[in-house]
Amino acid sequence: MSSPTAAAPSVHDAGFAGFRGLELVRGEGPWVFDATGRRYLDATSMYGVALLGHSHPALTEALAHQAATLMSCFSSYANDRRNALLNRLAELLEPLDRFFLCNSGTEAVEAALKLARLATGRPGVVSFSRGFHGRTFGSASATVRGTQRDQLAPLLEGFRQVRPGDHAALAAELRRGDVGLVLTEVVQGEGGVYPLDGDDLRAVQQAAREAGALFAVDEVQTGVGRTGRWFGYRHHDLDPDFVTLAKGLGGGVPIGAVAFRSSLGRWPAGTHGSTFGGNPLACAAALATLDVVTREGLVEVAARRGERLRQRLRAGCGDRVREVRGVGLMLGLDLEGASATTQRRLQDRGFLVLGAGPRTLRLLPPLITPEAELDRLADAIIDVVTEPVDEAHTAPAATHPGTAEQQA
Ligand SMILES: Cc1ncc(COP(=O)(O)O)c(C=O)c1O
Repeated sequence: MSSPTAAAPSVHDAGFAGFRGLELVRGEGPWVFDATGRRYLDATSMYGVALLGHSHPALTEALAHQAATLMSCFSSYANDRRNALLNRLAELLEPLDRFFLCNSGTEAVEAALKLARLATGRPGVVSFSRGFHGRTFGSASATVRGTQRDQLAPLLEGFRQVRPGDHAALAAELRRGDVGLVLTEVVQGEGGVYPLDGDDLRAVQQAAREAGALFAVDEVQTGVGRTGRWFGYRHHDLDPDFVTLAKGLGGGVPIGAVAFRSSLGRWPAGTHGSTFGGNPLACAAALATLDVVTREGLVEVAARRGERLRQRLRAGCGDRVREVRGVGLMLGLDLEGASATTQRRLQDRGFLVLGAGPRTLRLLPPLITPEAELDRLADAIIDVVTEPVDEAHTAPAATHPGTAEQQA
């Protein structure tokens, strides 16, 4: 069977083969199937989106029904599905009660950047090293470092990064008086699955407030139950001004959202919008996803199964893994060797996993993954990391395109 080859850009020519060397044609529950019919446990949720696994009956039924009812409805018209979703989001995210619906994570971040500037009149943005917020120019300006920054220059002015936990550096940036937004993840996903310290996060929120800046939590990867709470910031009693969501929100259907307080006001006419944002099909998918997560208690399931998986990996990998960290069903393992090698060997055994930097393995299994399958995943990882490796004879990197520069 084929193996991942060198990381390729996610720009597709006709006949693009995918740098993981697999053509996936079908999904069912936590599994995906390649063109030969071989089954893989998708411990990536397809990069964090398929929270309910693949082809969940409630999601496919909601989509089929909505597709047959009304797919398109521009936001100059009200829509029943959109309003139902906005009501549900307002319940879940209280006291945040106003939303902008879009189609991806980077768009949700862009909306927060723009609204923070409009609300505060300040162009400055502080984010954190190792953070990841997207690939469009605003979110990339809050993300990229080093050579990638030079390659893309000029990025947006006024964007600065400080190290998580470096309160003096943050204070120095805030003293400049131009910062309108401080933007952080709660668990830095792409940057290596680093849960940030709760005391540090509360101090960041407070420092931002005292300096007259707004505080945004990017929950694109951590939101909707992934970490064993509805939203990652709930682990730390934070009270953000903005929460960005995407990935798992639609259970696999593209949708993004930024939540904020109505006291921040409305978009002045013409300052923002999206043709597809809030379309009924995506809203129906998000509603069905939130429904299943609630009905099946998947937030608690993620907490419980994530803890069991972490314990098994810690016990079984021993000192062959430097660290197993994470929250809920969002785990990172710091390996001794290249993450790409381990990814390839797990793929060969029927398990899809992710990288998050050159030596970190990242696990984001669907929240519906049965405990027995997570145990099989843990056993396979323990087997692979404890058996001898001949790195000279393994395929090169299979990293998430665009994340190579995210390491601090
Ligand atoms: C925390 C975070 N923010 C933003 C993004 C960008 O999301 P998208 O790829 O949907 O634009 C990602 C994607 O990995 C992410 O993890």
